[in-house]
Amino acid sequence: MAEVKKPVQFTETILRDAHQSVIATRMSTEQMLPIIDKMDKVGYRSVECWGGATFDACLRFLKEDPWERLRKLRAGFKNTKLQMLFRGQNILGYSHYSDDVVEYFVQKSISNGMDVIRIFDCLNDLRNLQTAVDATNKFKVQEGHGEAQVALCYTLGDAYTMDYWRNIARQIEEMGADSICIKDMAGLLVPYEAEKLVKALKEGTKLPIQLHTHYTSGVAAMTYLKAVEAGCDVIDTAMSPLSMGTSQPATEVMAKTFEGTPYDPGYDQNLLAEIADYFKPMREEWIKSGRYSTKVMGVNINTLRYQVPGGMLSNLVSQLAEMHQEDKFDAVLEEVPRVRKDFGEPPLVTPSSQIVGTQAVLNVVLGERYKQFTKESRDLLAGKYGQTVKPMNPEVQKKALGDVKPITHRPADDLPPSLDKFNEECKQYKRQDEDVLSYALFPKVATEFFEYRESQENGVDNTIADKADKVYPV
Ligand code: CO
Repeated sequence: MAEVKKPVQFTETILRDAHQSVIATRMSTEQMLPIIDKMDKVGYRSVECWGGATFDACLRFLKEDPWERLRKLRAGFKNTKLQMLFRGQNILGYSHYSDDVVEYFVQKSISNGMDVIRIFDCLNDLRNLQTAVDATNKFKVQEGHGEAQVALCYTLGDAYTMDYWRNIARQIEEMGADSICIKDMAGLLVPYEAEKLVKALKEGTKLPIQLHTHYTSGVAAMTYLKAVEAGCDVIDTAMSPLSMGTSQPATEVMAKTFEGTPYDPGYDQNLLAEIADYFKPMREEWIKSGRYSTKVMGVNINTLRYQVPGGMLSNLVSQLAEMHQEDKFDAVLEEVPRVRKDFGEPPLVTPSSQIVGTQAVLNVVLGERYKQFTKESRDLLAGKYGQTVKPMNPEVQKKALGDVKPITHRPADDLPPSLDKFNEECKQYKRQDEDVLSYALFPKVATEFFEYRESQENGVDNTIADKADKVYPV
């Protein structure tokens, strides 16, 4: 009997996560457009090309309208689904937004051509994802395309048993998601754990399972191999010129790996080579200019040694260096898991990784645990980021909050609708409906971009004009 074919599908990340991971999100729309015709012919499950840091980087550094980028990519990709990364109730920012803003952002993303919306929360608190998932499902029907993918932040710790993953997969299916992604931002998922994890998820849900990891710790391609053998449906890869290191495994390599097996995606290696050739000179330029640094290439084994993300480790090193307390590094590393336990054992991902890391530094450097709290630590302990997987240490909570009771409801329940307010604040700049969303997420950066755009239109550089008597929203 012939083997049953079960081709694994690929999400290509070179237009989003790969360049975010290795060249600080600096690929411009102009650099993307000439190659998308060829990329469209590969047969990818989707191309991740928007969201994450691309939105901010467009406005701030590239002086591009991110919505315009989305429309141009949509026009170019005629057969391939577009995908974006969406930080739950934070959208693409760092604080919680009211539901009307979240819903409107989803609506405009889909109506401008987005298909797969990958939604995650730094605490894996599903309540922080529900509004975005519901909105995706609503506009999916209205626009005839769209998909709600819930991404779980992968992390290690006592709370994160196979039962935890199995149960949360079931809850995600119940909340109305179309697919599930395991998002291993730090490269902590090792091959044989991946095999167990995918099997556990498959027991919990019938939804397609996608795996997203980074090559930071050097195991990513092996992790994909074991995951696919265990039934993983989709993997995230990047074309070779921006692959490996802190980015994803290379698309060509993974496609070749599965060639001639039941998992063969059937991609044309010659076509992939042509696409790689397009990006190679850019890679050389970025290396020459220093934008693409050896720091993000190669293997950082400390990630696996300490079970904390590489970015968090380097933050700890620089925080201690600033205080001339470099000799405390080992003590801080030992304090990190203790603080994390006190804080309910959250995944270590932005922003929880910074909150836990900074608190651990304070606890060690001040010579007394919890002598001082950062504002972010207080907020986390007060439930303002959401619910953690384990209960927090009540003594630490009491010390941080005094008589203030932590909230147990969804944090965004406290936020009144705010879209009208944002519309009012930015109306003098508006050229399109979507501008209010750029403004809501990044008020200062968007305003500067709007002024730049005006100066391009009328040939006058308002950005250097006297602003003293103008009214500016803050
Ligand atoms: Co990533």
